[in-house]
Amino acid sequence: MKDYFKFYGAVYVVFIIAIIVMGTMYINDLPNVTKEKIGGFPVVAKDTTKDSTGQTADLPMIKGTLSPPTDVMKYLSSTPEMVDKGKSIFTMNCVSCHGEQGKGDGVAGANLNPKPRNFHDLNGWTNGTSMTMMYKTLQEGITSRGMASYANLPPEDRLNLIMYIRSFLPDYPPVTQVQLDSIDVTYSLTKGVKMPNQIPLKLAMEKILKQNASVDQKVASMVKQINESKTDTAAVILKNISSNLTKALTVLAQDSTWNTNEMGLIKIFDNNPVQNGFKARASYMLTQTQLTQLHAYLRRLFAGV
Ligand code: HEC
Repeated sequence: MKDYFKFYGAVYVVFIIAIIVMGTMYINDLPNVTKEKIGGFPVVAKDTTKDSTGQTADLPMIKGTLSPPTDVMKYLSSTPEMVDKGKSIFTMNCVSCHGEQGKGDGVAGANLNPKPRNFHDLNGWTNGTSMTMMYKTLQEGITSRGMASYANLPPEDRLNLIMYIRSFLPDYPPVTQVQLDSIDVTYSLTKGVKMPNQIPLKLAMEKILKQNASVDQKVASMVKQINESKTDTAAVILKNISSNLTKALTVLAQDSTWNTNEMGLIKIFDNNPVQNGFKARASYMLTQTQLTQLHAYLRRLFAGV
């Protein structure tokens, strides 16, 4: 009978030990669990080329050079070509707020106060309905009231836009030579305008993704190198103090402050170690000699890729 109870006592002990071991393994694996949940890098490759109305709308690539000189005087009278060009630029840049018909009822403008201008009503404009004033609006924006500056659009595009807006109603004030002269002088259009640098959002996004991809590649090749060098003491130390080599090396790749001194390395170990792929007590696991060895090794490793 006594032996019988002894046996059960042993089973309990084994059982409790098993739970503790499993629990520890789970905790050690936590960084991986969270990593999978957030999917590694927090880069969201959202399609930024569609605006809220589903229209494809992205900024054209423009180098910070002079825009071509604009023949301002041709805008004395409207041509169907100007209106057409204006319409396509309007569709890309303005419809979201000003609406398909220019009635100020675009989706993105619904919550704006004041509302986007209705181009079918010439009353109560902030700057005004004349050619000069509309050009001023597109150049400077009325930012305090939710209308952005479109100085990034070439002057010709802006003039075409105005021609398109004017086509909504016959009542817009006529364009005069004096007005066009004043626009020309104020914004030196015949001389050409210095345009700000601008790249399309999509390209900017791709650049960011590409940079991350190249970090990924470097890290992968370093991990391979570390895993292959079974005899290098420093490589063994590194494996010892990290819980997730890939994550740890990515953190080191993104923060180069450790490169010049060993304390920088310790700072990285101590700052959110578990999240960053290091063991919680990484910096306490190292002797001074090991730290020096590791630092030198990491510098060689990063210099090599
Ligand atoms: C984010 C929303 C938004 C977009 C996009 C937008 N606008 Fe506006 N726009 C506004 C708002 C809001 C006003 C009203 C400002 C006010 O009442 O002073 C306005 C006013 C205007 C006015 C009248 C200014 C005045 O004197 O009252 C013109 C002209 C205009 N926009 C042209 C454009 C053109 C052309 C585009 C595209 C290149 C454009 N807007 C894109 C929100 C927008």
